[in-house]
Amino acid sequence: MKYAWLAVVLMLSIPAAAAEGPQTLNLMPVPAQLEQGNTFIEIDSEFTVTIEGGGATARLREGVQRMLRRLSDRSTLFFDGTTFLQLEGRSLASMVVTAGREGELALGEDESYRLEISADGVDLTAATGIGALRGLETVLQLLTRDDKGIRLPAVVIDDAPRFPWRGLMIDSSRHFMPVGVLKRNLDGTLCFRKSCAHGVCGSDAMTINGVERLACKTLIRDVADQENAVVTIEPLKSLPVQRDLMVDYTRFFDAYRIVKPFLIPVHKTEQGETIQTPSERSKFDDATKCILCASCHSSCPVVENDPEFIGPAAVLQAARFVFDSMFWGRHEQT
Ligand code: SF4
Ligand code: FES
Repeated sequence: MKYAWLAVVLMLSIPAAAAEGPQTLNLMPVPAQLEQGNTFIEIDSEFTVTIEGGGATARLREGVQRMLRRLSDRSTLFFDGTTFLQLEGRSLASMVVTAGREGELALGEDESYRLEISADGVDLTAATGIGALRGLETVLQLLTRDDKGIRLPAVVIDDAPRFPWRGLMIDSSRHFMPVGVLKRNLDGTLCFRKSCAHGVCGSDAMTINGVERLACKTLIRDVADQENAVVTIEPLKSLPVQRDLMVDYTRFFDAYRIVKPFLIPVHKTEQGETIQTPSERSKFDDATKCILCASCHSSCPVVENDPEFIGPAAVLQAARFVFDSMFWGRHEQT
């Protein structure tokens, strides 16, 4: 379906432009080329967007809808972000988004864009719809809302991603991730687990340059011994890959449960606390530091060749309790 003729009509508009000194722009990443003007555009109602070119597909249309919804959230102006109406030509639109073709979510794709904002309107041009999506994010970053009003500064930006990388960080443990966010990023993303980013949860173990490591504790400079060195990242071994770098830990945690890794305390008949001396504690102290990352499981040649072997982490967990003087469940565990 072509959307070249489609326009998004919303209750935002560009009623005025005024001269003023350039404001400080908080753009991240900083665009490759940026020219700032002295004018700005006030936005208040009936803002219109039209999408043109061969890249005016459903993905870009949804991207424009998202941008408008977020503009609405940030500006507190009410508008119907789902209304599409046909306009009779680009001259009626406040913002024109032009994309040459849809573009592929692949390394090396042209994701550049040119964004021109002036008193006359907003012009976003890109070779692909993907580049246009990047430009839409920049528009959102440019929006200013203060006591002078809601507005976009006049700029000319030529930009493209610096790094040939495709990915999405789904950090659902710390941030709410709506299903819509996940769905629109499903294609071309890299899937891996992470959580604490401090080396304590054990969820991001992976094989980096052939060695099992926690990604959050690994600096590129420590694994890339020279400039432009190739760094390889692979999933853990001996566990089935669910997707990309994400493995299925079922075997690992089944083995962990088998050893009953919990304290079965000494049965006491008398009152009072159970005493453990420092030297008794030191016997299993190191074993308490296991964070269940499964790196040892991945690097263990016995695990690889014997599917019945419970693996080093489970053995360690068994030892942690067997050597605990407060533990009275040895007969159950052995
Ligand atoms: S013992 Fe194994 S699972 Fe536990 S922290 Fe060390 S490498 Fe990770
Ligand atoms: S993210 Fe938790 S150990 Fe790396």
